[in-house]
Amino acid sequence: MDSLSPSGWPCGCAGEERPVTDRIITGHTRIVGLLGGDVRFSLSLRLHNEAFTSLGLDWVYLPLPVKPHDPRSLAEAVRGMRAMGFVGANVTMPFKEAIIPLLDEITPAAQRIGAVNTVRIGKSGRLIGGNTDSVGFISDLSANEVSLTGRPVVILGAGGAARAVAFGLAERRCGPMLIANRTSQRADRLQAELATHFPSQKVTVTPWPLRADNLAPGALIVNCTPVGMRGVRTPTGADSPWPIRFTPDQVVVDLVYSPLVTPMLAAARADGARALTGLGMLVQQAALSFAWWTDEAPPVRQMRAALEEA
Ligand SMILES: NC(=O)c1ccc[n+]([C@@H]2O[C@H](COP(=O)([O-])OP(=O)(O)OC[C@H]3O[C@@H](n4cnc5c(N)ncnc54)[C@H](OP(=O)(O)O)[C@@H]3O)[C@@H](O)[C@H]2O)c1
Repeated sequence: MDSLSPSGWPCGCAGEERPVTDRIITGHTRIVGLLGGDVRFSLSLRLHNEAFTSLGLDWVYLPLPVKPHDPRSLAEAVRGMRAMGFVGANVTMPFKEAIIPLLDEITPAAQRIGAVNTVRIGKSGRLIGGNTDSVGFISDLSANEVSLTGRPVVILGAGGAARAVAFGLAERRCGPMLIANRTSQRADRLQAELATHFPSQKVTVTPWPLRADNLAPGALIVNCTPVGMRGVRTPTGADSPWPIRFTPDQVVVDLVYSPLVTPMLAAARADGARALTGLGMLVQQAALSFAWWTDEAPPVRQMRAALEEA
């Protein structure tokens, strides 16, 4: 293959008809990619490939879809990346927790969070798992001057992204934390792990149907589920995970970024709440992953511009 053509990519990739890179692939091109169940709509493809282009790096970032319901597929994919000399990968839904036992080493932060979103493969083939979601999320809140100390928070979801968000917020000494997840055992597990690492952090688990009950004023509400994402259908047909009106003192963050303004964010804006899209976190976590793989300073401005054009 001499170059990547638009027709070589699965249809529906970020940017739709536009190719995510027009660079020539050489025999020396270094390869990273995105491991996930459905990576067709991920903007990471555009983000990282634009970053490589802007720094003149002979690197490429590829979509690496893996069958989510076949437990062997992820292990085979990880072995394949090592065998083919990949430099690393991002990991997305639903594999951020499942990939951990397949790796040789986990950074202390990812170990504590219990989720890996970035893998680096050393020259010896050693696979190291890290987490850039947590710092990426908090950096975006800081960039948007959202004060966290003492602020009550509601976390919707208890998967890989929710874990990163919860640990990041607890580290920043947020106020009482409410976690609501469709599967309550998963939320209970996260609560227990937070209690081990942050004994003074108040964490309550609430059943999913009661997620909006008894909210403290001024809450930060973070959607860490895929509800609202393009192509995701819920059994009830709901396209927002938040069942009631918002209030103007609330700050609402939706990690889903496809579409950019999700039904939840549109409702938050209409009700006068502060609404932040998932793009800020996407850029921040990507910049950290980029630096970890390449040992280069990430071109953050170009990465953000690439997303705004996508
Ligand atoms: N903006 C960013 O940079 C960024 C970064 C990371 C993730 N994300 C987004 O965050 C979302 C979650 O990613 P993840 O890696 O945490 O996935 P994950 O580990 O698979 O977790 C998914 C979570 O969503 C819940 N969920 C799934 N379908 C649901 C439904 N129909 N109703 C209610 N809850 C539902 C799951 O509940 P159960 O436990 O009951 O299955 C679980 O808590 C994805 O949309 C992803 O794209 C964005």
